[in-house]
Amino acid sequence: MIFLVAGARPNFMKIAPLASELKKANMEHKIIHTGQHYDIQMSEAFFKDLGIPEPDISLGVGSGTHAEQTGRVMIEFEKVCRQERPELIVVVGDVNSTIACALVASKLSIPVAHVEAGLRSFDRTMPEEINRLLTDQISDFLFTTCEDANINLKNEGIPDNKIFFVGNVMIDTLLKQVELAKQSEILEKLRLKERGVVKDFGLLTLHRPSNVDNATILEGILNVILDFSKQIPVIFPLHPRTLKQLGRFGLICMVKYHEDISSVMKKESRNIIGIPPLGYLDFQCLLAHARLVLTDSGGIQEETTILGIPCLTLRNNTERPITVREGTNIVVGNDPLEIKNNIRHVMDKDASRLAVPKYWDGKAAERIVGIIKTKLNYKEA
Ligand code: UD1
Repeated sequence: MIFLVAGARPNFMKIAPLASELKKANMEHKIIHTGQHYDIQMSEAFFKDLGIPEPDISLGVGSGTHAEQTGRVMIEFEKVCRQERPELIVVVGDVNSTIACALVASKLSIPVAHVEAGLRSFDRTMPEEINRLLTDQISDFLFTTCEDANINLKNEGIPDNKIFFVGNVMIDTLLKQVELAKQSEILEKLRLKERGVVKDFGLLTLHRPSNVDNATILEGILNVILDFSKQIPVIFPLHPRTLKQLGRFGLICMVKYHEDISSVMKKESRNIIGIPPLGYLDFQCLLAHARLVLTDSGGIQEETTILGIPCLTLRNNTERPITVREGTNIVVGNDPLEIKNNIRHVMDKDASRLAVPKYWDGKAAERIVGIIKTKLNYKEA
C-alpha cells in the first residue's frame, strides 16, 4: 500500500499523473488529502478538472499558524499511518503538509519519497525553503526535476543512490491537459474575446506572505500594475489570503473585484480586473494566451517556460533558476521601479521560448512509478 499525500492547491496537479500511473501499474494506493486547502475553488475544482479520484482519506486540518497547521497534519496523519502501515508515502512540493507527513512517516520507519526534491531558493525566510530542506533530509527517494536540484542535494550530503532525476510531474499534467484547456470558455466569460484582446492581456497572481502581508509592498506592486493596466487589461485571480489582505489594508479599491465573473463588462474601465481563484483548465487557458504573466508563484514560472509566455517573477529569488536560464522567466523582485522597467522591456521585445528543460516531457510520473516498483520489489498479484 502506497500513500499519495496532497494538501494544498499546487500539490494537486503534481499527484494527478502519479495517481494515474500507480493505477495503470496496478499498485495499491490511497490518496490522502490533508485539508490544508479546503475552499471548493482551491481544492475540489482541481480534483474535478484533473480527473483525480476522490481522496480515500481526508484529514480536514484547515488553516492556522504554521505550527498549528503542521501540528494538526502530523497528529491526524500519524493515526492513519499507525492504522494502515503503508509501505511507502509519497509527498510532493514544499507546503506544510509535505514536511508534516514526511516527518510522521520517517519516525514510524515508513519510507518517504519526495517528488520535486532539491529545489532551493537559498532564502530561509521563506517557509517553503524550510519545508524543502527538512523534507529532503528525511526522504529515502528524492525525485528531481532538474540538474540544479541534483547538485543542491549532493552539496547537502544526500547520497547519490537516493537521488533520481526524473523530470517534472507538473509538466506531465500541463501537457496532458493542454487540449482540454483550449476548450475552456474563460476568454469568453471574461469578455476578452469581445474586447479583441485574446492575446493581449496581462495575468497577475500574488499570494506570498513577503508580498501580500505588507501593506506598503502590496500597494507599491499594485500601483505599477494599475498603471500597466491602462495599456492592456490585467486579470488578477485572487488567492483567499490576498483577498483578505486587500480588505484589511483598505487596498481593495485598487482592484476592480468581481465576485462573480459574469459581471465583467465588455467596456470594463481600464483597471486590474480581480476575480475569484480559477480552476486548473481555465487558468491554463488564460496562461497560454497572456501577453505577459506577473507572479510570485513557483509552479507558474515552470508553466510559462513550457508555454513560451514571458513571466516576471515578483520575488527576490527563485528556487527554479532553470526557468530563467532556459525559459522565459525574469526574477524582478517587488521594487516598483524594477517591475515597471521590466514590464517595459518585455512589452518591447519578443520574449519567445528558448528551450524545453530536459525530461519535462510528460513522462516524469511514469519514471517515478517505474523506480518505485523496482525499489519496493513490487510483484503483480
Ligand atoms: C500555501 C503554501 C505555499 C503555496 C500556496 C499555494 C505553505 C507554507 N504554503 O500557502 O507554498 O504556494 O499554498 O496556494 O504550505 N485559505 C482559504 N481557503 C483555502 C486555503 C486557504 O480561505 O482553501 C486562506 C486562509 O485564510 C489561510 C490563508 O488562505 O489562512 C493561507 O492559507 P495557507 O494554506 O496557510 O497558506 P497559503 O498562503 O495558501
